[in-house]
Amino acid sequence: MSSREQFSSKTGFVMAAAGSAIGLGNIWGFPTQTASNGGAAFVVVYFSMALFLAYPALMAELIIGRYARANMVTALRLISPGAASKAIATGVGFTGVIIASLILSFYAIVAGWMVAFLLESITSTIGLDSVSSWLTTFSFERNMIFMALFMTLTMSIVASGVEGGIEKWSTRLMPMLIVILISLIIYVTTQEGASEGLEIYLVPDFSQINPALIIDAMGQAFFSLSLGVGTMLIYGSYLGKDESLPKLGAAVTLIDASIAFTAGLLIIPAIYVAKYNGAEVFSDSGLLIAGPDLIFQVLPSLFSSMGSAGLLVAFAFFSLMTIASLTSSISMLEVPVALAAEETSSGRVKATIVIGSIVFGISSIILVNFELLFDFVINLTTVYSQPLLGVMLCIFAGWVWHRNTLLKEIQSGHPDIEKSLFWKIWPHYVRFVCPVLILAAFIQSVVA
Ligand code: TRP
Repeated sequence: MSSREQFSSKTGFVMAAAGSAIGLGNIWGFPTQTASNGGAAFVVVYFSMALFLAYPALMAELIIGRYARANMVTALRLISPGAASKAIATGVGFTGVIIASLILSFYAIVAGWMVAFLLESITSTIGLDSVSSWLTTFSFERNMIFMALFMTLTMSIVASGVEGGIEKWSTRLMPMLIVILISLIIYVTTQEGASEGLEIYLVPDFSQINPALIIDAMGQAFFSLSLGVGTMLIYGSYLGKDESLPKLGAAVTLIDASIAFTAGLLIIPAIYVAKYNGAEVFSDSGLLIAGPDLIFQVLPSLFSSMGSAGLLVAFAFFSLMTIASLTSSISMLEVPVALAAEETSSGRVKATIVIGSIVFGISSIILVNFELLFDFVINLTTVYSQPLLGVMLCIFAGWVWHRNTLLKEIQSGHPDIEKSLFWKIWPHYVRFVCPVLILAAFIQSVVA
């Protein structure tokens, strides 16, 4: 056997997997969903979803991936015993790979905006006003240039391999992300107006819980843990047999949820500081401005109301967003690249260039037809495909895969696991509870 690439250590894996999980979903999606879903009650439901649905589904991906030591298509085929299940495995695997690529194609556009705003904090400081306004104004040229730049960054890391690219950069960038996040929280919570935001964020009003909130929280949890499309499966495939999967999976889930919670401590008070400073934070219909306008109008207007400190704050904030995006986008690109590199004779570098160019092409098509395609692709991939693929992965782990092989894989790296709660609960849970709960939440959201 030729040696397959691996993470060099447990920490390397945790940094990379947490890097994948922590992204725009945590720092933008979670706080704004919280703010527009009534505050702290959403936080409580989200944490339940992360623990009771997303963590078990994450475990299904990690276990299948490490057992098969392969991409999603090959892995699902390997654990399928018969011809029919193998055919379904191929279908599900390819769907996952395609959805991962589509998620990257819109993610790269949004991440490109972050890079543009990051540069703007520099051009404003040195007084290049016309450049600054070009950077912060929506235009096809700007969008294309920064999407291309971001894709190039993503590709250059993925081309350098698992240990030399993904692990190395995740290990460098994740600590920076945490330092920036905490510094920003300290700054923002000392500003006038912040305490109103903190109260909304931290004091739950359970009358706010309704079916729509539950489905939003589930979608958010699946997106945030990068589930359904084989990202965690492929990262699991680079883990050693001597590591305990339930523990590593729990660590990644906890880190991801804590960073989402921490990001809320920044964004929600920031919204209220902006309001205090006179910015428009609610739309005409009385709803909180939560979409791109929040990040690209409300917060920038807050930064500029802070005087010269605001430029530094803007620089830190958009660095945070860029770093968070990059450690996520590399995990999306790794999904199709691993498939191509493993199943064809082309090496990793060539696979990265070819697939990166295809994703760049899809992003360009989205940019040309922005009104038509942007929201459509986001909904198709995150609202519909991710939960349904998550159900399929639970079914493969729980029903298709031979029971004893599954249990042996869980034991590997965790010899005394039979005494644990995980061993007693998860194998049944992933068969019955996970698929039923995900489907139920999904169906009620589609019919509602
Ligand atoms: N989880 C990341 C975020 O919160 C995004 C992400 C990375 C992702 N890989 C993924 C989402 C795979 C869905 C599927 O921003």
